[in-house]
Amino acid sequence: MELSDVQADITKVLYTEQELQERLAVLARRIETDYEGKELLLVAVLKGAVMVLSDLARELKFHAHMDFMAVSSYGASTQSSGVVRIVKDLDADIAGRHVLIVEDIIDSGLTLNWLIGNLQSRGPASIEVCAMLRKPDAVKEPVDVKYLGFDIPNEFVVGYGLDFAEDYRNIRGVAVLAPHVYGGEDPHA
Ligand code: XMP
Ligand code: MG
Repeated sequence: MELSDVQADITKVLYTEQELQERLAVLARRIETDYEGKELLLVAVLKGAVMVLSDLARELKFHAHMDFMAVSSYGASTQSSGVVRIVKDLDADIAGRHVLIVEDIIDSGLTLNWLIGNLQSRGPASIEVCAMLRKPDAVKEPVDVKYLGFDIPNEFVVGYGLDFAEDYRNIRGVAVLAPHVYGGEDPHA
């Protein structure tokens, strides 16, 4: 879907597909330099990160292996609690490997910090983070993000993998969701 297909549901376009691709290309060049001669394993957390992962992987000029994890937050709170349960673990043993976690968005940072700790305990050769978006005003636990796309305002955004109630993931761009779409609900649910 194009951003224009959901015009009535969004208040502001943050990034078009082209802007996202151009930024990803810049990050890919840095990643190519940093991992030259090394074997890179891209790890994405389902489902939001699949768009970033597929675009980043294809932009890279060397072989990059991919693996996936699915996690869910414990507790009744709709906000990220930082207490995480693994729903689907990695297929690969990451001991001794160079791992790059690929994320769609860093909000509070709680989920990602938990993930870094979990993967670190498996003895990788290195572990770094590439995130397309970050909300600096929402961060509760700072995360060391080596490759960052853009810092964005603390508003609920959709598109390019990011959803509201599973909708809007397949939009070719990132936009702020209009409040009338989520009504009184907490959009982070
Ligand atoms: P943390 O633990 O960093 O959680 O608070 C990050 C996860 O929360 C979701 N999230 C969003 N999803 N638009 C979305 O569609 C947003 O603006 C947004 N902010 C956070 C997302 O799943 C992310 O991985
Ligand atoms: Mg979500």
